[in-house]
Amino acid sequence: MTARLTARDITLRYGDRVVSTRLNLDVPDGAFTAVVGPNACGKSTLLRALVRLLRPEAGHVELDGREVGAYAPKTLARQLGFLPQDPLAPDDIKVWQLVSRGRFPHQSLLALWSPDDEEAVTEAMAAAGVEDLADRPVQELSGGQRQRVWIAMVLAQRTSYLLLDEPTSFLDITHQYQLLGLLARLRDEGRTVIAVLHDINQACRFADHLVAMRDGSVIAEGVPGDIVDAALMKDVFDLPSVIVPDPVTGTPMVVPTLQGE
Ligand SMILES: Nc1ncnc2c1ncn2[C@@H]1O[C@H](COP(=O)(O)OP(=O)(O)OP(=O)(O)O)[C@@H](O)[C@H]1O
Ligand SMILES: [Mg+2]
Repeated sequence: MTARLTARDITLRYGDRVVSTRLNLDVPDGAFTAVVGPNACGKSTLLRALVRLLRPEAGHVELDGREVGAYAPKTLARQLGFLPQDPLAPDDIKVWQLVSRGRFPHQSLLALWSPDDEEAVTEAMAAAGVEDLADRPVQELSGGQRQRVWIAMVLAQRTSYLLLDEPTSFLDITHQYQLLGLLARLRDEGRTVIAVLHDINQACRFADHLVAMRDGSVIAEGVPGDIVDAALMKDVFDLPSVIVPDPVTGTPMVVPTLQGE
């Protein structure tokens, strides 16, 4: 496994609140990595550090051996596409305008809108299934529609990396599987995907590499079929469960045995 994007011994904190101490992560190139773990364990914080929205107090986040903080913002944004958990759209922006913002890192100060930009935006809107919404104001969309518009914006950026924080949280079940299938196809085309997912069964089905976090630490990582068992579910989520093979893919399927007690 090779990893161009790495976190080495990073300590992450907000003021007095230390989230992670000496965390290490190699994001495998060209793979689909899923990050799972309980609420508040530090998943979003880790992603924010990887895209340098949060500067580690100690340690290093590096892309191609160079500290992410040392890159010019546009250069980094051509490599790392990031969708936060709760993105905020500017007031009165239309769908096509928001998706077009994904092209900013590719434009120089004087450059006009190019055919490449047009193609990237059209393709991204089609892939995310939001072409029909192009002229709608973003703030008037449903939660799931809005989430797909944000996904289109990140796709339009055409980055080698897609870092997505709970990209399926507002989607209905069909749109969830369509999006995960799309991410798997992009991975097959050579992109590197890292997504925070709450559905462990979807993570096992689609991810090549699973990163399980608890209390700011990575407590297990590897191929889902190698690491997901009842003991891991107990360790990560305090969840009693039985694990059966997914009838469609054979990957681990977690069936909780908790019945409201
Ligand atoms: N801006 C902030 N300022 C202070 N504390 C924060 C901030 N953002 C997150 N935290 C705290 O950091 C810890 C980790 O939060 P984080 O958002 O990384 O969790 P998470 O694993 O993404 O959880 P969730 O599944 O609920 O999204 C939590 O205790 C949270 O309260
Ligand atoms: Mg989060």
